[in-house]
Amino acid sequence: MSLETQAFSVALSQKAQSLKPSSTLAVTARALELKRQGVDVVSMAAGEPDFDTPQHIKDAAIAAMQSGKTKYTPVQGVPELREAIRAKLMRENGLDYSLEQISVSTGGKQALFNAFLAFLDAGDEVIIPAPFWVSYPEMVAFAGGIPVFVDTLASENYALDPEKLAAAVTPRTKAILLNSPANPTGVVYSEEVIRRVVEIAVQHNLLVVTDEMYEHIIYDQNKHVSAAKFGMDNVLTINGASKAYAMTGWRIGYAAGPLHLVKAMNAIQGQSTSNPNSIAQWAAVAAITDSYDYIAMARGKFQERRDRIVAGLNALGLPTPLPDGAFYVMADTTSIHPDEFEAARVILDQAKVAVVPGTDFHAPGRVRLSYATSMEQIEKALERIGTLR
Ligand SMILES: Cc1ncc(COP(=O)(O)O)c(C=O)c1O
Repeated sequence: MSLETQAFSVALSQKAQSLKPSSTLAVTARALELKRQGVDVVSMAAGEPDFDTPQHIKDAAIAAMQSGKTKYTPVQGVPELREAIRAKLMRENGLDYSLEQISVSTGGKQALFNAFLAFLDAGDEVIIPAPFWVSYPEMVAFAGGIPVFVDTLASENYALDPEKLAAAVTPRTKAILLNSPANPTGVVYSEEVIRRVVEIAVQHNLLVVTDEMYEHIIYDQNKHVSAAKFGMDNVLTINGASKAYAMTGWRIGYAAGPLHLVKAMNAIQGQSTSNPNSIAQWAAVAAITDSYDYIAMARGKFQERRDRIVAGLNALGLPTPLPDGAFYVMADTTSIHPDEFEAARVILDQAKVAVVPGTDFHAPGRVRLSYATSMEQIEKALERIGTLR
């Protein structure tokens, strides 16, 4: 048989077949495709700050390249970066970790992935408040675990009732996932709620995985509280540079937690991607050490935009709760179409505004709009969505 006539198609693994592609990325790709065709699309889909990476961070990357910091580093990151993270966790969060308890990865995504692979066995359950960031259940399932959802309601501003979490604990529960400030709801949990969740974890011998990616994007009187404050042995803290310092493309995230867990995560990373990008690590040292001017500027701008978009959507008859943090709003689009997927399609095809349907976030009847874009784009989006009313 000649090579040309051989028809072979490798069977994909069960794992690959059951993995759902990220719907956020799918919508962003569709909007980009429309843009490429010359259609003027306003994108409210992407989950990244529109600001450029601050100059002092870029300068640190350039200096790293020029001084030859372009080789393999320790798998868990250079000591200088882990020291910057250790000092940050102490200074900003009141957490006392050792350098060995800190591991740097290729984005918060990889830190989370490493974690689930390191502590989940087949059938282990992870409790996740819903609506949730789309990647959590996929990552848990990929690692063999079972995501268990506890609903929170838009009518209650997505407040989390820890007793509902406690009621979801079974003999197979291994962990509880917290994300505050949250994607997509923007909810920020109070100190009392977080303390109670850690208490429940301690009581049932569970791990709390706390994703604190949006900690600096927080509004009004809300305060970010790190769960690890209430029980270092039961908490794995995840954070990163993407959202805090406008560094989504640099791919730096990190985990801090119990030593044996962090060591297992390092071993997993060591056999997969090894160290995160060396130049980005040195840039992250500058970012984490001092970006307070940037953080204050970004927070101010995000807050103005949040206020405008929430007021605008509510005025258009699309009920939208006021988020406490992050840079997303969840608009009720049932008056456009009862099904959120169809509503998102109508908004993209007719109003030329890209939004993400709430389906994969477990937010039926709602779409997510990211306001990490300029005020002009927000005004344009509101005007265009207004034409559908
Ligand atoms: C809640 C949450 N966690 C983690 C991440 C991952 O961020 P990165 O991998 O860019 O660090 C994101 C990105 O969208 C997110 O929204």
